[in-house]
Formats: sequence, C-alpha cells, structure tokens
Amino acid sequence: MLVGGQGTRLRPLTMSAPKPMLPVAGVPVTAHMLARARDAGIGRVVLATSYRAEVFEEYFGDGSAHGLELEYVTETEPLGTGGAIRNVAGRLRGDADDPVVIFNGDILSGLDIQALIRRHREAEAAVTLHLTQVEDPRAFGVVPVDDDGRVTAFLEKTPDPPTNLINAGCYVFRRSVIDTIPTGRPVSVERETFPALLAAGTPVLGFPDSTYWLDLGTPAAFVQGSRDLVTGRMASSALPGPVGDCLVLSGAQVAPDAKVGGGATVGARARVGTGAEVDGAVIFDDAVVEAGATVRDSVIGRGAVIGAGVVLDGVVIGDGAVVERGNELRAGARVFPGAVLAAGAVRFSSDRT
Ligand code: GDD
Ligand code: MG
Repeated sequence: MLVGGQGTRLRPLTMSAPKPMLPVAGVPVTAHMLARARDAGIGRVVLATSYRAEVFEEYFGDGSAHGLELEYVTETEPLGTGGAIRNVAGRLRGDADDPVVIFNGDILSGLDIQALIRRHREAEAAVTLHLTQVEDPRAFGVVPVDDDGRVTAFLEKTPDPPTNLINAGCYVFRRSVIDTIPTGRPVSVERETFPALLAAGTPVLGFPDSTYWLDLGTPAAFVQGSRDLVTGRMASSALPGPVGDCLVLSGAQVAPDAKVGGGATVGARARVGTGAEVDGAVIFDDAVVEAGATVRDSVIGRGAVIGAGVVLDGVVIGDGAVVERGNELRAGARVFPGAVLAAGAVRFSSDRT
C-alpha cells in the first residue's frame, strides 16, 4: 500500500498528518483501506511510507489489533509510486508468478478485490488494473482498453482524454514484474512503468468496475468520502459507530438543540454549541464550534475554534486555528494552522453580483 505522498492538495491538513492518516469518518483513510483488504482475505500488508513515516507505525503497530500482519518500509527520499513498489520487493513473499496487490493509499472503493485477483490469474496477465469511470478524467491516469479488455495506453493526467475510464489506483502485479522496475531512483509507475510495459507488448489487463469509488485527494472529495462512510453509502467495517445521519465520537459534546447531520462527523472531545448547525462537515478531535455557528461541507482541524455565529461553507480550517465571531468563509478558503482570524475580518456581501 502506497502511503508516502505529500498530500499537497489537502494542505493545510497535511502539514501535521500525512493524507492517508487524516481521519475520515473517525479513523484514518488507511484504516478503512486495510479493513477492506482484510475483509477480502488479505492477511499481510506492507506499507510503503515516506512523508511523516513514523505516524503509521505509531497508529497501526504490527497490525494485530486490525487483524492483519503489517510491515513498514520507509523511503529516505520519496521514490515515487513505482520506486516505492520496487523498494518493498524484498518484503514480498511468494513465487515469481504470484499476484501482488498494490493500493494507492487515498482511495475509498467498493471493488471486489478477490474478483480482481481472479481475473488477473485467469488471464495470466502481467499486470491487471482496477479501472473506473469518472466524469472528468483529466486529473487521473486515463486507461483506454480494447474489446478484450487489454490496456492499449496509459495517459497520466492528460489534457485531452480519449476515454472516461481511469486507473482507480489498485493493481495486481505478477511478482516478477516488480523486479523489472529500476532501483535507487524515483520512478513513476504511471508515467514510466506502465507505458514501458505496454511498449514492450507485455499483457496489461483492465478490470472496469462501477462500484463506489472516490480519490480523497481534494478537500471536497475528502468531505464527500467522509459523508458517504457515515451514511453508509460506502460500507466500511472500520467505521467506529453505527451508520446514520452523523457520527459523534467519544467524549464529544453536542448541544441538544444543535443540528448535526448530512453525514457529519464530530471528533472525540469536540464541542458543538447551542443552536449551531453542522452539515456534512468533518470536525476533527478537540475542535470547538460555538453557539449559532454554521459549518457546512468543511473540514475543521484538530483543536480549531469556530466562533459564535461564524458561517463556513466548503472551507478547510487548519489545526488549532481560531475563527472569531462575525466571519463568513466560503468555497475554497483555507485557514492555516494556528492562525487567528479576528472578529468580522472576512465577510461575503449578500448583494454581490
Ligand atoms: N511511498 C510512496 N512514495 N508513496 C507515494 C509517493 C512516494 O514517493 N508518491 C505518491 N505516493 C502515494 C500517495 O500517498 C498515494 O496514496 C498514491 O501514492 C497516489 O498518489 P497521489 O498523489 O494520490 O496520486 P494521484 O491521485 O494524483 O494519481 C494517482 O491516483 C489516481 C487514482 O486516484 C495515479 O495513480 C493515477 O493514475 C490514478 O488515476
Ligand atoms: Mg490520489
């Protein structure tokens, strides 16, 4: 599982935690992914870490509490996706022809992992890629396939995509193919390895699938994914509570007349004051939403304080930041960790044209 990226698009949340460790519906993204792998019968996972490597092992340990055997391999310099896969080759068990499943670490998906492995084995492919369809494929790896399901090209982040079918970030590699990736330098599996395999005529297979799929790499997707887990649109055995309209974690205090819903999560020991409205938002642990504030489709970092009557919609508030009363922040605004937004500093005019 590849969990070493910087998570740049999720700044400032990723300044304190790597993206795969950000809590989505109460537990790290990685915990949901590991639970799915375990539920599919995978018993051992190697985490390829780089950025903020130590936090993974602190949280997951040897994996026994999660029903898995876990190992960690840390890159001193980020090696890219392909380099990270090559870097863990020594830890992989099994024979040259055995399948190895690789996961991008920021995906929620309903993929039937065993079905993907079966398809790979039956077709005797070198690599089999989970594919999904998205409306706008430009931010992904675009993967055209022929009538037999064979991948014909791999076009990473192309401005003019020939198809809506994309690399969904889960692959099966024949063990021996991993050994062909060069060592000791960064390699992108998407920009280098896949195109090279295709150019050499190696059988690379696509496995299109239309179950739930979401890359959590942007704030909007992160909020959406959290909501979908809380409401049960996306099933996860790692969800730390029953499916419902909201998830309120241990020690949180929600005023009886506060409205918390739309798949919102209220973190451990967080507080939501009287008359406040929290709709579909993700409130991290120890954060405070004061009386009468409205927090919609936003992420509120650990220990941040949202003042009375503040309106937040589609924004990201860094850990420990304070948004004093009388502020109104909308679409795309980001407040950095520890920053203090003085009372009434930012407003939206109601009569803007
Ligand atoms: N260990 C390690 N080292 N992991 C890395 C590194 C690295 O240097 N760089 C990235 N990763 C991890 C990230 O943590 C993430 O889990 C995964 O590799 C993919 O990186 P992203 O940064 O999330 O890539 P992306 O979303 O732009 O694109 C990738 O995912 C798309 C599907 O969501 C590509 O694989 C696309 O082809 C694909 O469509
Ligand atoms: Mg991603």
